[in-house]
Amino acid sequence: MNSRQNAPISAKLILNLGLKDRNTFGLDAVADFAYEITAANQIPGVMSNIAEKNLAWRVLGSGSNVILPAVLPGATLLINIAGQEIVSSDQTHTLVEVGAGVNWHEFVAWTLENNLPSLENLALIPGTVGAAPIQNIGAYGVELADYIESIEAFDTKTHDFVTLPTQACQFAYRNSYFKQNPHRFIVTKVVFRIPKNWEARIHYADLAKQFIDNPKPSPEEIFLAVCKIRTHKLPDPKVIGNAGSFFQNPVIPNEQYETLLRKHSGLVSYPDVPGKRKLAAGWLIDQCGFRGQRMGEVGVYENQALVLVNHGKGTAQDILELAQCIQNKVHEEFGVSLEIEPNIF
Ligand code: EPU
Repeated sequence: MNSRQNAPISAKLILNLGLKDRNTFGLDAVADFAYEITAANQIPGVMSNIAEKNLAWRVLGSGSNVILPAVLPGATLLINIAGQEIVSSDQTHTLVEVGAGVNWHEFVAWTLENNLPSLENLALIPGTVGAAPIQNIGAYGVELADYIESIEAFDTKTHDFVTLPTQACQFAYRNSYFKQNPHRFIVTKVVFRIPKNWEARIHYADLAKQFIDNPKPSPEEIFLAVCKIRTHKLPDPKVIGNAGSFFQNPVIPNEQYETLLRKHSGLVSYPDVPGKRKLAAGWLIDQCGFRGQRMGEVGVYENQALVLVNHGKGTAQDILELAQCIQNKVHEEFGVSLEIEPNIF
């Protein structure tokens, strides 16, 4: 990609970098030092340096799915690899290569401008393209995994670049091979496989409601509808700190689901793999009375109980204490364990 050809050979080093503006929770955090990576070929040198000095390290995309401590010791890698281009096209699909540092929502908008619809249900998800496969982002009935051809990454174990085809990525609900192996891969590029036979996916209840009078919406109309729903339900991190859904929707065995349903007729759930059912964690938390509640500097968002918010001066510890309180209460009421979704650094 063009950006790579012009990029400097060495990554830029920044000392004592304040990260308050680089994490959507708005937590006050300082990185001992950070490397700004603008091209994949800067990574081997950086990782050799880190290995030689035996330093702690982690990757930070745009910080939309992380809980940061006050100090991040050692090296923080900021992945700013840019560029997106169509690399091939046949009768059925178009392949698009995208740098890991590209903003996710801007990429979705770009696909529509270039007549490559399919990702519109995933509009307005915060974060970078490189972070998207780690937790296999999904929304409104669509998952990223359905559109991945391959992922290019630096493998810190073998100290070499790898290309993982989609089958090797072990994508599952908010999960992947990368998430299962947290300190191993640094994603540098994502190759998308966009089908040419586009079909609207508006079956998800919230989205279906937007199209009662318009059963055949265009990709642009779906994009705008998703933006509208998300803007209403999820707080804008520039205004109030948050990391989107704070817990995963728990998946439980059918028998446990049936028992719960007998006690709670309003239980909200979705089909999952055979024998299992996925519950709406937001509903469980809401039923426990947490929605709109505040605990010091942190709280639960008033329009969506699955979202924890930082009212300004909250710390990682404040957020984790509130999370523990919610997990305890939900377990007590429903016998269901909630798993934290963002990465705790
Ligand atoms: N609900 C309540 N009270 C609440 C919140 C939700 O009763 O406070 C109930 C409602 O019945 C609602 C249902 O739960 O219909 C589901 O809520 P919603 O449609 O908002 O979806 P979700 O299951 O809470 C998931 C994803 C979101 C994604 C939406 C739409 C997870 C963990 N979260 O949320 O992803 O945008 O579906 O597809 O799977 C994210 O991961 O950061 C994220 C925002």
